[in-house]
Amino acid sequence: MTTRLSRSEVAILKRLAPRFVTFEGIDGSGKSTLIEELSGWLKEASIAFLRTREPGGTRLGEQLRELLLDPSFTPMNHQAEVMLYSASRAQLVQEIIRPAMNRGMWVLADRYTDATLAYQGYGRGMDRKALERIQEWATGGLQPHLTVLLDCEVMIASRRMSGRKEKEDRIEQEDRDFHQRVRDGYLKLARATPERFLVLDGSRALDKVRANFQRQFIAALRRSYDGEQQTSNASLAVGANGRTTES
Ligand SMILES: Nc1ncnc2c1ncn2[C@@H]1O[C@H](COP(=O)(O)OP(=O)(O)O)[C@@H](O)[C@H]1O
Ligand SMILES: [Mg+2]
Repeated sequence: MTTRLSRSEVAILKRLAPRFVTFEGIDGSGKSTLIEELSGWLKEASIAFLRTREPGGTRLGEQLRELLLDPSFTPMNHQAEVMLYSASRAQLVQEIIRPAMNRGMWVLADRYTDATLAYQGYGRGMDRKALERIQEWATGGLQPHLTVLLDCEVMIASRRMSGRKEKEDRIEQEDRDFHQRVRDGYLKLARATPERFLVLDGSRALDKVRANFQRQFIAALRRSYDGEQQTSNASLAVGANGRTTES
């Protein structure tokens, strides 16, 4: 079940250029739930979109996913872990995300480069500058227009996950302190690039999270779009008079 958009919200979505939106947050924070919500809105507005999940999303990526989440590979070398996640992401960008964007589709991604910075950088304490360079290299520098961060208390998220039938995967088996560092790390990433992030309180009741998402998402999209318009107007102005002007 998704909440309905107003006519004016649908009109805004239709007017905007296709966006690449990523969803981040610890397991159980509500990413899949909000991706489902946004998918419902896009369907309602008859806008073409594609959903991806990480690791996976391609034939190669799904095999890498098996390796990455299999608890029998504990302990996995940290560098090897980064390479496997990044390999899956590189394949996903080239095979799925870029072609979809080139066809004018929206892309909704369940995790992307921020996940590596949060989990391996902040969670495992690896060199974040190195991780950033590896991400840039693996993705050809493709950045999302907007990143929705579900910030959720670790205990609440873990309680939601324990309601599931499946066995815990390799990452879910990490201790509480690890997930706390990942949560804090995500918030630091959001603070470093506030113009790209929409941070939602994912600890709240689902109807509240949905309502906040609906209100803030459309507003954030408009801001990112306006920002782009200003940049392209500025470059047109530079092109016209041949001089760089400050705006
Ligand atoms: N705000 C919320 N309050 C209560 N339960 C929630 C909330 N958001 C999600 N859930 C439930 O918690 C579980 C995990 O949510 P999900 O969207 O799958 O998280 P993620 O994709 O981030 O792991 C699901 O069963 C979902 O229905
Ligand atoms: Mg999910």
